[in-house]
Amino acid sequence: MTKWLEGRVVENRHWTDVLFSLRVEAPQIRFEAGQFVRIALEEELARPFSFVNPPQDPVLEFYGIVVPEGPLSPRLEKLRAGERLLVATNPAGFLVLAEVPDAETLWLVSTGTGIAPFLSILRTEAPWRRFPRVVLVHAVRYARELAYRETIGEILRSHHNVFQYVTFVSREPAPGSLAGRIPAALRDGRLETAAGVKIDQRSHVMLCGNPEMLKDATAALMERGLRKHRRRTPGHITVESFW
Ligand SMILES: Cc1cc2nc3c(=O)[nH]c(=O)nc-3n(C[C@H](O)[C@H](O)[C@H](O)COP(=O)(O)OP(=O)(O)OC[C@H]3O[C@@H](n4cnc5c(N)ncnc54)[C@H](O)[C@@H]3O)c2cc1C
Ligand SMILES: NC(=O)c1ccc[n+]([C@@H]2O[C@H](COP(=O)([O-])OP(=O)(O)OC[C@H]3O[C@@H](n4cnc5c(N)ncnc54)[C@H](OP(=O)(O)O)[C@@H]3O)[C@@H](O)[C@H]2O)c1
Repeated sequence: MTKWLEGRVVENRHWTDVLFSLRVEAPQIRFEAGQFVRIALEEELARPFSFVNPPQDPVLEFYGIVVPEGPLSPRLEKLRAGERLLVATNPAGFLVLAEVPDAETLWLVSTGTGIAPFLSILRTEAPWRRFPRVVLVHAVRYARELAYRETIGEILRSHHNVFQYVTFVSREPAPGSLAGRIPAALRDGRLETAAGVKIDQRSHVMLCGNPEMLKDATAALMERGLRKHRRRTPGHITVESFW
């Protein structure tokens, strides 16, 4: 039986009409950067959300989007400071650096709210200690959905020799971002050109977000000789699907 902690919302930041970040005070909970936990308003209707905050931060943070026909996300978007959020006590998930073998370049590739676990990972010491280069890729429909740019700017300032940030905006022209989708840009080389880094068997690619992107991007990477990573047969691709 899942045990639940009672958290209090301290802030619900809205990035757009449908994108929001809940900051929540809750009793301490242990997790690894990249993991998720189930959250709920009532125990019967819980959904997994990735931690955005690194494990050392006392305030929990979750980054969400309203799925209009979904039962929980429209209600989370409406939460205000002071309201209650239940947080399960058993974080889980394998999208963590402890599961990733050493590599020349760590690629963190996301669509939409799939950037959340990477924001947690990037604010720990491990990526900078272990990987000579780190590339964060974030694909969204509209430029206004490129959330957390201040946070990413701080990471860029602290790790400017090591860290690259590449964005995609798929549904409007956006200067400074690539157009189209991640798998196509993997195939035609635009992603590597934008990052200034090659993707090959010296890379490890962590992918998170839309399951169709995960499938298409994995196929594009496998065409280039990368393999899915498993504990018993180490490879180069680790994925986490949000639905
Ligand atoms: C391991 C894991 C981690 C997750 N982490 C996050 C997170 O950090 N942030 C987050 O917003 N969601 C995350 N999700 C999805 C989340 O659990 C819910 O599904 C989502 O909030 C919608 O909930 P709902 O009850 O309104 O609709 P649901 O009935 O859960 O979903 C309905 C449909 O909405 C679409 N959908 C669900 N989630 C998303 C999404 N994030 N972006 C775009 N479309 C979506 C899918 O088509 C899905 O079938 C995660 C899911 C998993 C499995
Ligand atoms: N984003 C919004 O403006 C908005 C507004 C209201 C509600 N919502 C709800 O939010 C959900 C969608 O959220 P989202 O926009 O964050 O996620 P999304 O649909 O996964 O889109 C995020 C990015 O992933 C890309 N993508 C989609 N399928 C792909 C694939 N097979 N391969 C590679 N890339 C792919 C999209 O490109 P494409 O643009 O080419 O698809 C877009 O750039 C829906 O349930 C919707 O109802 C969204």
